[in-house]
Amino acid sequence: MSANPEFWHQRYTQQVRWTLAARRYIFDKIGVRPSQRILEVGCGSGAVLESLIKDGFSNAIGLDIDYAALRLAISEIVTNADALKVPFARNSFDISLCHFLLLWVADPLKVLKEMARVTRPGGWVIALAEPDYGGRIDFPEELIQLGKAQSQSLQDQGADVFTGCKLKGLFTDCGLQNIQSGIISAEWHRDFDQAEFDLEWSVLRKDLEGKMSSEELERYYKIDLEASRQGRRVLFVPIFYAFGRVPE
Ligand SMILES: C[S@@+](CC[C@H](N)C(=O)[O-])C[C@H]1O[C@@H](n2cnc3c(N)ncnc32)[C@H](O)[C@@H]1O
Repeated sequence: MSANPEFWHQRYTQQVRWTLAARRYIFDKIGVRPSQRILEVGCGSGAVLESLIKDGFSNAIGLDIDYAALRLAISEIVTNADALKVPFARNSFDISLCHFLLLWVADPLKVLKEMARVTRPGGWVIALAEPDYGGRIDFPEELIQLGKAQSQSLQDQGADVFTGCKLKGLFTDCGLQNIQSGIISAEWHRDFDQAEFDLEWSVLRKDLEGKMSSEELERYYKIDLEASRQGRRVLFVPIFYAFGRVPE
C-alpha cells in the first residue's frame, strides 16, 4: 500500500461499492442508528469511513497500522495503531467493524477479541468482507491458471486467502453471540466497463509482476479482454461476512 496510496484508495473505493448493499443489509438487520459510535479497524485510506459518513453515520472513526494509507483519510477521525493492540478502553464503541482486514493479519482471532473488548456489551462486531480464494471461479477456463497464480501471489504477500471460510469459526471462538455469516451475492452485467477492467488488471499486474513472463501475462490479458468484451467472462471470488453480538 505504502508504495502507491492513491492507486490503492481507488481500488478500496471500488471494493466498497461491491460490498455496499451487504453493509446496508447488515446495518438494517442489527438496527445501527446514525448516532452510534463506530470503529473501523484497518481502515486504510478511509474508503469505508467515507461511505459510512455519506450514509449519515457521523460518529465513525478508524485506525490503521499503515501511516501512508491514513494520510489520504480524513485526518481527524483516524489513528495510526495496530489492530492487535487497539488503543481504546473497554465499551468505547457500539459497533466495531473491519473490511478486507482479517486475511492480512497474523492472528485474526486476537484482532476480533480486541474489537469485542472495545465494543460495549450488547454491541456488535462485524467483519464486512473477507474473501476465500478456494472458491474462486474463472471462466473461460483458460483463465483458471491466472486465478491460481494470483491466489499464490497473495499468499506470498502474507495473506491467508482462505479466511472467508474460517470467519464463522473465528466469531464462534471469539465468544460472540447471535452470529450470522454469509456470502455477498454477485451479479454480472452484459455491458463491458473498461475502467473496472483496467483497474482489475492493474491489481493483477502488481500481483503477478515477476511471477510470470510478460508474454504470458499479455496472453491472459487478451483472453480476458476478449471474453469480457463478448460478455462471457466470469470472475467470482466468494466474499464472506459475519456479525456477532458482544455478550451482556
Ligand atoms: C486491504 S486493506 C483494506 C482497507 C480498508 N478496510 C478498506 O477496505 O478500504 C487492509 C488494511 O489493513 C491494514 N492492516 C493490516 N494489518 C494491520 C494491523 N495489524 N493493524 C492495523 N491495520 C492493519 C493495512 O495497513 C491496510 O490498510
